Amino acid sequence: MEQTRKMTDKKMSCGNVSKSFYTKGKELKVLDNLNFDVKENEFLVLFGPGQCGKTTLLYMLAGIEKTTEGEILHNGNQVAKPDCSRAVVYQTTALFPWLTVKGNVEYGPKTRNILKEKREKDTQHFIDLVGLKGFENSYPVQLSGGMKQRVGIARAYCNDPDVLLMDEPFGHLDAQTRYMMQESLEKIWLNEKKTVVFVTNNIEEALFLADRIILLTNCPSKVNAEYKIDLPRPRNIVDPEFLKLRQEISNAIDSGV
Ligand SMILES: Nc1ncnc2c1ncn2[C@@H]1O[C@H](COP(=O)(O)OP(=O)(O)OP(=O)(O)O)[C@@H](O)[C@H]1O
Ligand SMILES: [Mg+2]
Repeated sequence: MEQTRKMTDKKMSCGNVSKSFYTKGKELKVLDNLNFDVKENEFLVLFGPGQCGKTTLLYMLAGIEKTTEGEILHNGNQVAKPDCSRAVVYQTTALFPWLTVKGNVEYGPKTRNILKEKREKDTQHFIDLVGLKGFENSYPVQLSGGMKQRVGIARAYCNDPDVLLMDEPFGHLDAQTRYMMQESLEKIWLNEKKTVVFVTNNIEEALFLADRIILLTNCPSKVNAEYKIDLPRPRNIVDPEFLKLRQEISNAIDSGV
């Protein structure tokens, strides 16, 4: 399946993007002149240390946050505001507590007046795909953290976005659940062929999922390095090649940038 994925076209781009926040007249420069592309159907990981501006960058790609300088393009058009063609999966998924799993997943298509038959078919398809078959009628309060994130992913996919933007979606999960979720997400991504931009500060997660990793420096963040990850999928985290790349990236982080 992987060979058939097309990863040549430019889906999004960041051109000379900088971001500063101003509080009480004081400037905090978070991102400093970033330049990179997101290719169609690729799984791009933005990897960076804590507070380096990863969420800010993802929100700018989503159109939630504005750039201070530079331009973000999606299919050649300037990103100026949020749009349902770009879905965001947050670190902690905020589900509607009064809606069931099914209600939460079909919420987007419902508000876009997608016909009931298609809506119900898609909703069930994504609930099955994230492994929540049998939990359609459960309420968020009845779900574990990992299950809630699964609902968040199903909800994002069910909107049929052009690009999925994920902000450390597994950051709050225990190691075992996190690993299961990474495997699940890889399967969904291989099945659905969507462009994903995924933020993490976990090297193993980055190497397990990415076609390409963009390594960001400490704040104010620049692009430190870029790694194309050609290892076959699913990846084996104790494979010598995997470990070699892990070491290489660790060294780049430790080099103090
Ligand atoms: N709206 C805002 N106003 C002022 N400062 C902000 C705002 N949003 C973020 N910041 C600051 O920008 C910096 C980067 O924040 P951001 O949340 O993007 O980093 P991050 O890499 O996602 O952090 P983490 O690893 O904790 O998720 C932080 O110092 C934060 O305090
Ligand atoms: Mg963040």
